[in-house]
Amino acid sequence: MTIHNQPEYEFDIVQLIYCGRSTKIENKPEFKRDLDDILDRSQAYNSLHDITGALTTDGSMFAHVVEGTPTAVKDLYAKIMRDKRHDRVLTLQYVLVHVRLFDRWPIAFAKVGALPHVRTLEARSTPAERRKASVSVLQAFRPLLLR
Ligand SMILES: Cc1cc2nc3c(=O)[nH]c(=O)nc-3n(C[C@H](O)[C@H](O)[C@H](O)COP(=O)(O)O)c2cc1C
Repeated sequence: MTIHNQPEYEFDIVQLIYCGRSTKIENKPEFKRDLDDILDRSQAYNSLHDITGALTTDGSMFAHVVEGTPTAVKDLYAKIMRDKRHDRVLTLQYVLVHVRLFDRWPIAFAKVGALPHVRTLEARSTPAERRKASVSVLQAFRPLLLR
């Protein structure tokens, strides 16, 4: 549904941010292969399911912002959580939004040197720690979003 005269606003869109640790050794060719596979497959699937977002990595962790209807995001997240290419998957944020940050991308990608607050997260991390990690994930896409 769109708001009258404001078609760029949507109802029922959620934004999920999660992170996970790659199961491949940092900087090995297997890591790059996994990443290429994920990005390749995600373009088609995400476009088909009206999912937008962006993936980032510091070479050891993955962090991903996913936007779409609650059902589309939930279904995709269930697949992602089962994926053996990463482990220690943690949800950083799940919020209702009216404007997609990544409306131009089924899955954008940004490589960063570091993802502050992400590597140190654990299952018992506090909301404040998850919040800081979410901010550092979004920060990774700043150049892309401001372009
Ligand atoms: C960090 C990470 C991010 C992923 N993001 C997506 C995505 O945005 N879209 C997608 O279709 N698959 C994504 N995948 C791949 C899925 O986990 C899964 O392999 C794919 O959806 C196929 O699942 P299926 O064989 O159960 O259908 C991602 C995997 C990882 C490890």
